[in-house]
Amino acid sequence: MCGITGYVGADPALPIISDGLSNLEYRGYDSAGVALVDEGLSVYKRSGAVAALREILPESAAQQRGIGHTRWSTHGPPTDENAHPHTDEAGRVAVVHNGIIENYESLRAEVSECTFTSETDTEVIPHLIARELAAGSAPRDAVQTVADCLAGSFAIVVAIAGVEQLFAIRKDSPLVIGHGESGMFLASDVTAFLEHTRTVTYLEDNELAELDSDGVSIYRGEDAVAVEREQLEWEADAAEKGGYDHYMLKEIHEQPRALRKTLSGRFDLDSGAVTLDVDLPSEYLNSIEEIQIVACGTSNYAGRYAAELFESLADVRTTVEIASEYTFSGGRDPWRTLVVAVTQSGETADTLSALRRANRAGARTLAVTNTLGSTVTREVEDSVFIRAGPEIGVAATKTFASQVATLALLAVFVGRERGALSSTDAIGVLESLRGLPGAIQQVLDLEDEVRLVAEEYAESDAFFFIGRRLGWPVALEGALKLKEISYDHAEGFAAGELKHGPLALVTDRTPVLAVLTDGSRPKETLNNIKEVQARSAPVIGASSFDGGSSYLDVEWDVPAIGVMEPIVTNVYWQLFAYHVADLKDRSIDQPRNLAKSVTVE
Ligand code: F6R
Repeated sequence: MCGITGYVGADPALPIISDGLSNLEYRGYDSAGVALVDEGLSVYKRSGAVAALREILPESAAQQRGIGHTRWSTHGPPTDENAHPHTDEAGRVAVVHNGIIENYESLRAEVSECTFTSETDTEVIPHLIARELAAGSAPRDAVQTVADCLAGSFAIVVAIAGVEQLFAIRKDSPLVIGHGESGMFLASDVTAFLEHTRTVTYLEDNELAELDSDGVSIYRGEDAVAVEREQLEWEADAAEKGGYDHYMLKEIHEQPRALRKTLSGRFDLDSGAVTLDVDLPSEYLNSIEEIQIVACGTSNYAGRYAAELFESLADVRTTVEIASEYTFSGGRDPWRTLVVAVTQSGETADTLSALRRANRAGARTLAVTNTLGSTVTREVEDSVFIRAGPEIGVAATKTFASQVATLALLAVFVGRERGALSSTDAIGVLESLRGLPGAIQQVLDLEDEVRLVAEEYAESDAFFFIGRRLGWPVALEGALKLKEISYDHAEGFAAGELKHGPLALVTDRTPVLAVLTDGSRPKETLNNIKEVQARSAPVIGASSFDGGSSYLDVEWDVPAIGVMEPIVTNVYWQLFAYHVADLKDRSIDQPRNLAKSVTVE
């Protein structure tokens, strides 16, 4: 997966494209490049992050059209040659691409007379377009003809020297068009141009957009299609660091605000009713025998938290599947199985492919996502948005909290519709959700204390996170966050499992971080804490539980808000991971080898 962007308008394109690339860098940071277009093409590209590219970009440039790319390598290592944009031999056609061209080898054979300068699957595209142009095709026809030959997933933007339009086409990879005052924008994600416009058009699969400084025309094959505009609610500064050293820290601190948006207008505390904009009729919800949650990484852990809630609040068997391992099997009745895909980006290939398997089996599907217009929303019957706003840090933080909160609302909704949850119990869960932003703020106010603890333990050999029930997914998430951004060895365990093996790893140089809250069986977890203490491990507990203090080397208070307490604990884990990584001077927003949305299987 990569980030692509483009601009055509009245302003110089260079600053718009390079700022857009910085905002898209979360999608890939192996290499970056820009092509500026007028009667000729000026291409600048370099391995490494956008900062490295900036070193070779001119201070200013007059061209008013341009395209840009930031890469997460799939075909070919992150070298200067493999960086996009790629061009034809004459240097007249420039292409940026996100996705994978599966048939690039056979296409390459078709233009074997051309000299290729990279190992990418992308480079074949400008050569093919140049061949069509040389054969007399109009630019749009040339792009369409070549796109028709491509197998795989792609979002492509094409610039041609001497041609006033930019062309873009997509299949299974995101592309959004921005309607600005000075001109037209294109990007994989709106964060690239949010500071210029919030009026957008999401391109659909197999649609080709032709943009010039006055506007956009969209075609499906030969036919022009209507250009639907949407107004985004995201604030213009949502994709900026806002004074924080890293996006991740900003996003950790944004959690109270994000959660208020997640929850706003969606429940009534007096009645315990939840209103979600979904078409899940009571009759259908009463007929289901199972909910299957499919998701990857952090979203999978949000799903595990939710599974506990679906089972206890809605009395429905719920399984959580790692999307890349998912099959619709085991004698399930598709009519009685609701498949819920949880995905922040809405573009994760593994999750989309799991969803397609569920769709093929005939199950009803629902997406819980942060991203309006994303691919997942086109493939499901219903979507619920978590409303967390853009998340730029590669490590998911605020979106985890908002996913869990949204899923908790869904669990209450399903529970009420199925008659499995009394209004009193529903109100209890909703009270806890209402208390979540304030409780998280109390933790955020203790950041200095967390940093001191991070300083004390940063050089440990490994870190183990433990929890039970709702505390277990939070233990897994705490460990994932720490390993992602600090590169330290960290593992999450169901606390009771420690003694079945992992205890062998425990020493006085392996801090154990424990969840001791409502919903996480703190009393039982205390027994496991005693076991690790007996092996001299330091124990850090995030606790709302009376009676654990004497067993903890460090105790962090969790405000008593009930069933959402483990999510408050998670904010301590996030701050701890952040400060351990910061002390080690890691690349926190862009950890090595990772990218934010993983659009390859
Ligand atoms: C971890 C992280 C990843 C994502 C995973 C799924 O911090 O961000 O584990 O959670 O790649 O991504 P989405 O939610 O976009 O499907």
